[in-house]
Amino acid sequence: MTDPAPTDLAPTDTAPSDTAATGFAVWARYFEANLSRHERLDALIPWSSRSTLPGATVVALARSLQRFELGESGEGKNLRAKARRRHDAEYDAALTLFIAEEQKHSALFGRALTRFGAERLTSHWSDAAFVVLRRLMGLRTEITLFLIAETTAMGYFDALGRSADPVIRGVARRVTTDEIEHVRFQIDQLRVGFETTPRAGRMLAALAASVVAVAAATVVAVDHGPAMRACGLGRALFWRRALSTFGRAARSSFLLDGEAELIHGPSVDSAVLTIRSAPDNTRQVANE
Ligand SMILES: [Fe+2]
Ligand SMILES: [Fe+2]
Repeated sequence: MTDPAPTDLAPTDTAPSDTAATGFAVWARYFEANLSRHERLDALIPWSSRSTLPGATVVALARSLQRFELGESGEGKNLRAKARRRHDAEYDAALTLFIAEEQKHSALFGRALTRFGAERLTSHWSDAAFVVLRRLMGLRTEITLFLIAETTAMGYFDALGRSADPVIRGVARRVTTDEIEHVRFQIDQLRVGFETTPRAGRMLAALAASVVAVAAATVVAVDHGPAMRACGLGRALFWRRALSTFGRAARSSFLLDGEAELIHGPSVDSAVLTIRSAPDNTRQVANE
């Protein structure tokens, strides 16, 4: 079994061709087209291979994956209820498909746990705290928390994608392809959400989000530190990269980058995703 080619995993420079789409329709189309890519990348994960990782590394990775499996398993009922108040059917469709992608990530982590002979968690304090925080807040705050979680975790998934274990590597790279776009999705939602907020309010929101991001990156560094080290990523380096990634995303999210356009859309062309999943192309990628 061959790892997915890097070109499948990184965002392309291709300008999206969905220019006729208005608002969040471009995102609903992307999430629908991405289902084809999921099938192709999931088929490349060698689930039946035996792990040759040392026992301590398996324990560290399993403990870490348990948290992600639990954290991404939510149905998003609360989030979707808040979103419906915007009366934007395109946005509702995109958000529903986004939540489905997160649930698929949870299923992939769960399958990796089963292969390691590890149980799924039914609760964890960090997940419970995250859920309570999200439910207490409005839609923009909840999306901001997603942005924080996804930007801070990105460097860690990147490290997992270089794991010596082919299944962990395959799962991490597969999830990273989605997370790159998820961050862009959260940014677009926040740009629309903060469109009419004065600059001072947006700066205050960015400052509050930065404080939470520092706390989140610290919790992840402590909680997932052993798994990071097993993939060659030190806690301090993870922490610096997490906040750097968050900082770049936050400038755009809170409209502090001077750009006028609100919705940038995904970095990949939905039409290209669909074409690339045609049978002939799938065979070509599998042979790379
Ligand atoms: Fe995810
Ligand atoms: Fe995500």
